[in-house]
Amino acid sequence: MERTRWYKDMVFYQIWPRSFKDGDGDGMGDLWGVLEKLDYIQSLGCDGIWFSPIYPSPGADCGYDIADYMDIDPQFGGMEAFRQVLKGCHDRGMKLIMDLVVNHTSDEHDWFQKSRRRIDPYTDYYIWRPGTPDGPLPNNWDSNFEGKAWTWDEVRGEWYLHLFAVKQPDLNMDNQLVREEVKKILRFWLDMGVDGFREDVITYISKKDGLPNDHIFPIYKGMRHYNHGPRIHQYLAEFKRDVFDHYDCFTLAEAPLVWPKQALKYIDETSGQIDMMIQFQCQCADCLFTDYLPTRFSLRRMKKAFSDWQNKLAGRAWNMLYIENHDHPRIISRYGSEKYWVESGKTLAVSYLFQQGTPFLYQGQEIGMQNWRPEDPEMYEDVQTRYNYAHSNLKKSPQERLEKMWRSSRDSARTPVQWDDTENAGFTTGKPWFYVNPNYKEINVAAQEADPDSLLNFYRKAIALRKELEVVRHGTYREHFRRSKTQYVYSRELPTQRLLVICSFSDRPQKMKVPKGFDLTTAQRILSTHENDTSILHPYESRVYLW
Ligand code: NOJ
Repeated sequence: MERTRWYKDMVFYQIWPRSFKDGDGDGMGDLWGVLEKLDYIQSLGCDGIWFSPIYPSPGADCGYDIADYMDIDPQFGGMEAFRQVLKGCHDRGMKLIMDLVVNHTSDEHDWFQKSRRRIDPYTDYYIWRPGTPDGPLPNNWDSNFEGKAWTWDEVRGEWYLHLFAVKQPDLNMDNQLVREEVKKILRFWLDMGVDGFREDVITYISKKDGLPNDHIFPIYKGMRHYNHGPRIHQYLAEFKRDVFDHYDCFTLAEAPLVWPKQALKYIDETSGQIDMMIQFQCQCADCLFTDYLPTRFSLRRMKKAFSDWQNKLAGRAWNMLYIENHDHPRIISRYGSEKYWVESGKTLAVSYLFQQGTPFLYQGQEIGMQNWRPEDPEMYEDVQTRYNYAHSNLKKSPQERLEKMWRSSRDSARTPVQWDDTENAGFTTGKPWFYVNPNYKEINVAAQEADPDSLLNFYRKAIALRKELEVVRHGTYREHFRRSKTQYVYSRELPTQRLLVICSFSDRPQKMKVPKGFDLTTAQRILSTHENDTSILHPYESRVYLW
């Protein structure tokens, strides 16, 4: 079937279902809540939804530990609610993509339960290694979440590999039967009408033969032996050939530690196996590879990440544009300023929405939600946060350790969406499953709906503009004043249309930088954060000019 690449014209909204909107009053976000808010999502100009996992799951990693791939968790409303949401999207001309998590399953998945009992054909569905419970581990790899990557299973009397939490055993993708299971899952959802998949840590699915030891000191021990592993392209090509090529669908691969050159092996439009890639470089302007190694925010690092991907994918592949998702603390609290949250929120929006690619917004980003800062580490829910808190910075004071978590934890961005200033921020009529950020009285959707200058309405304007302008879809990208530590300036060009974007990331006034050859007197200012005609930019001011 011809793939029309419809995703190139879309803007996606990511729903992390537990915290989006509760529709049935049990305190947990669900699909009934989503149904209520489809018009809202569409009103932003978003025409696609990416659902973080909504399958049955014990919730050890908030749904990324799946116990049944072909059903919807009853706590989210089950299949009945899902069908209504899918129809609701399609009736509105919107698309819906699911999260495909097949590097690992939940240990409560039936496959694992059978595999640990050596019941065929499931015996080799996972990565098992012989040994003794007190003997050496099969290798020295670390898991991404909870210490070592191996756990002893009493039932089978062997070690199993888990690159994430103990309750997330890795599938053995080298087993053809496992790959056939993946294809069945894909067809099941595509046949139902789902429009595509975001593929969770998909670059991890092929491990190096023999699972060799890693050196002693890398940040993620073992990663070189499983990220972009030996048969990754073969497996992805197989999924494409056997499934995706038969549907006009869309695939988005999550890829930790990837740079454009390597990304092209996956997403080059003529030779790749998937459509777009979630890269992490844009999340590393204030940390070293991970949020757990924070550094000061560097605008130059952010600009370099943006420009690298824009320049190196140009003409060959399509960029996925994002500044927030459920795995990173809120962007205003990191790259912007909580003091100037409206201004910096707008400027962050401008900084990425006029690039080439398909933008994604993460729930709450459009109203400027900020990091949640619990006063007690016990309030954290996330498995990764809890492990890190218990095992790192042990020499520091409890308060210092807690404050580190505020910057690093994924829970900082997982609090319920703030819909209004009523109890529980309008998220639920029951007792919320998680804490609501106390700033909800000031920051919420209802307040911003009523204010034409709000961040929410600014997002609407910016998204509408990007959809109107040919140059945003097709124009070339050029960065100016690369060395500036306070301004991000880029242009987009077509023979018939020219766009200039100027963003200040400073909390002090700045003389506006205008590149040579751009005569502002003949331009139309189509978007700006401030009413300001002077050449001095206010803190976090940004402007977009069109010729
Ligand atoms: C990446 C997902 O985005 C994250 O939330 C999850 O914990 C891990 N993969 C493991 O599935």
